[in-house]
Amino acid sequence: MAVRRLNPEQPAQFAFTADNLAWAQDTIAKYPQGKQASAIIPLMWRAQEQAGGWLPEPAIRYTCDMLGMAHIRGMEIATFYTMFQLSPVGSKAHVQVCGTTPCMLRGSGDLISVCKNRIAGHAHETNADGTLSWEEVECIGVCANAPVVQVNKDTYEDLTADQLNKILDGFLAGRPPKPGSQTGRTASCPSGGPTTLADPALYDGSTIGAWKKRFDETATAPTEAAQESAPPSALASPAHKEQVAAGTSPASPAAGAPPPLHPAALTAMANAGLVKELEERGGGKALSAGELDRIKADMIRDRAIAGAAAAAAASTVVEPELLKEPRGGTADDFSLIWGVADKLVDKLHAIGIWHFDQIAKWTPENVAWFESQLDGFKGRVMRDKWIEQAGKLASGWRPDNKAGERPKE
Ligand code: FES
Repeated sequence: MAVRRLNPEQPAQFAFTADNLAWAQDTIAKYPQGKQASAIIPLMWRAQEQAGGWLPEPAIRYTCDMLGMAHIRGMEIATFYTMFQLSPVGSKAHVQVCGTTPCMLRGSGDLISVCKNRIAGHAHETNADGTLSWEEVECIGVCANAPVVQVNKDTYEDLTADQLNKILDGFLAGRPPKPGSQTGRTASCPSGGPTTLADPALYDGSTIGAWKKRFDETATAPTEAAQESAPPSALASPAHKEQVAAGTSPASPAAGAPPPLHPAALTAMANAGLVKELEERGGGKALSAGELDRIKADMIRDRAIAGAAAAAAASTVVEPELLKEPRGGTADDFSLIWGVADKLVDKLHAIGIWHFDQIAKWTPENVAWFESQLDGFKGRVMRDKWIEQAGKLASGWRPDNKAGERPKE
């Protein structure tokens, strides 16, 4: 794979549109406290879409700043993943040709020749009118249908040079061909058609009733595991056996207290709840496999949102010790804390934090308060171990490097 470098010509700056900014803030809020940096990939992807299919260097810095990340971290991500384009791409199609072994053995060299002859002699260059561009990439995960290219967000599989030419014609004419295998096979099934899971009833929703019945039975019948987990003295006692024989067994073997449930029984009960919710969401009608999958995905998403909201509501913030001015008129040198740049020093002072010992005393609740004062900052204090660094600095230790010493992972 070619070395990935930033384009020599870059725009002066980048900023999200109002819509994208709102979307980015929503996206960041989905990540747990302290893990907001994980939003870097979706944010960069949205920045790339906004910039016309490539990721300018100011956009990398912009997204890093939103997440309180060092710019080099964003650079590492953007230069590693070939989903991020570092140079302008064709306005109608950017072709990524897989050159990894399975595709190479099945003819990716011919596809690269098409790109060189038809688009540009070198990867990451556009054709004369700027409509097409190409590059060679590593495996894009469709090896069973090699050779493969990805065009924009879709893959085109089982290709020949002629087919790739037709695909390019389609994009140039504004009529992109249908993605997937170009030999007509479904997904990666055998070329003569599927040989397993061929019963149409598996896909028409007619088996849903049997599926539900099975879950209902599992949920209500006492499982072997649940019986095993009940107190042996109660289940095996002669009195209990007599009650069972006479049909007068109490609901629970121990007076008034239900026997403990085995995890398997709890799982079955949870599944019963799932079935009920599925029924409600499906409006009581027979569901096709596709509808079922969609409803299940909705349920998982709704639960995730509810969980995140509950976690956010439960988090507490406590204001740490703040000072109007530095003690003795001199602030500690915060640039000695690794990861604290000049801009952050100014912000710390503006808030009322001047000394290492103030930071060294922070509790998790103080960190949460501090992070709530800065946009897009969450996670850096703990990730860069500010409290540990500040503690050492407060006790007189000094790093060799003026910009601080990176804490050990
Ligand atoms: S080797 Fe080409 S898609 Fe995996």
